[in-house]
Amino acid sequence: MTEGKLDLLTRVTGVGADSILVGASIIRSGGLVAFPTETVYGLGADATNPLAVAKLYAAKGRPSFNPLISHVIDQSAAEKLGIFSTNARKLALAFWPGPLTLVVPKSYNCDVCELALSGLETIAIRVPSHPVARVLLEAINRPVVAPSANRSGKVSPTISEHVSHDLFGRIDLILDGGRADIGLESTIVYCSENEFKILRPGGISSSLLNSVIKNITDVGQSNDKLIAPGMLSSHYAPNAFVRLNADTVEFGEALLSFGEDKVKNVERAHKYLNLSPSSNLVEAAANLFQYLRTLDAEGVRMIAVVPIPNIGIGEAINDRLRRAASPR
Ligand code: TXA
Ligand code: MG
Repeated sequence: MTEGKLDLLTRVTGVGADSILVGASIIRSGGLVAFPTETVYGLGADATNPLAVAKLYAAKGRPSFNPLISHVIDQSAAEKLGIFSTNARKLALAFWPGPLTLVVPKSYNCDVCELALSGLETIAIRVPSHPVARVLLEAINRPVVAPSANRSGKVSPTISEHVSHDLFGRIDLILDGGRADIGLESTIVYCSENEFKILRPGGISSSLLNSVIKNITDVGQSNDKLIAPGMLSSHYAPNAFVRLNADTVEFGEALLSFGEDKVKNVERAHKYLNLSPSSNLVEAAANLFQYLRTLDAEGVRMIAVVPIPNIGIGEAINDRLRRAASPR
């Protein structure tokens, strides 16, 4: 929080139209603004401005070989940046605006800077549905790159306080739009002419995607760095170590539960949080990152997590938990 030199003005605002317009003009003039989306908070910069994008990588401490998602207001803005096959367009039509990112070949006249694309021939594009994000994008009228607004490798922010915890003093403005509804990042789908692969499970489940296009494959767990450079297995890590599929609690552990407690030795847990006492996966997704941060803030060293059903958004929850638990 003290090491930032980018901090001309960092403040948290309640979001009215005025503050969104301030945010838009900061981004247009090369600054960094955190804003709410329906998935998680994003850190926005002008995608066409390499200097702004360089500042963004520095503020997050993100390796610059990890490309960014370009956020735009609608399909027609998206088609200026990328080349959409018939099926890619079908997915866009079904799920935009919303928590889906499509990776498509970049168009000939795509004006997103090379740095944001890490030199790839493809571009990741998303049309968010959150009203603050939409007003911001409309006012900026350029593509906005927005990674999750956390320090690189940490869990994504679902409330503005998470953003200020990680990035205060490193960015110019935080637009506070309350809690991000979904709480997990967008689903990323790689689209070529006839091939569709889920690179990251997220807000749109694989079964929903399959209801629009058949034969979407899931490569979220593979280490194919070429097509999913940011999917390092130890991403989304809290400070505490994470132990998955716990059926008992060991001494010294905190417990992250789900549904009715079936786990043995619950009384050993020195901290206890339940992602959703009523076994609701959507609620669990919305709580996951916040609870991991809460346990970190309480100085927990080891978190035991009970099994989470791998259906619907449970797939994305389990993906993030596996990454949080993987060796660092
Ligand atoms: O929900 C979200 O997607 C949030 C909100 C703020 O929109 N954004 C987000 O961005 O999660 P970020 O940067 O944290 O994750 C983007 C992922 C990274 O793993 C990156 O490697 C991948 O997208 N990516 C970006 N461009 C890509 C490309 N051309 N091909 C494959 N993967 C790409
Ligand atoms: Mg991220």
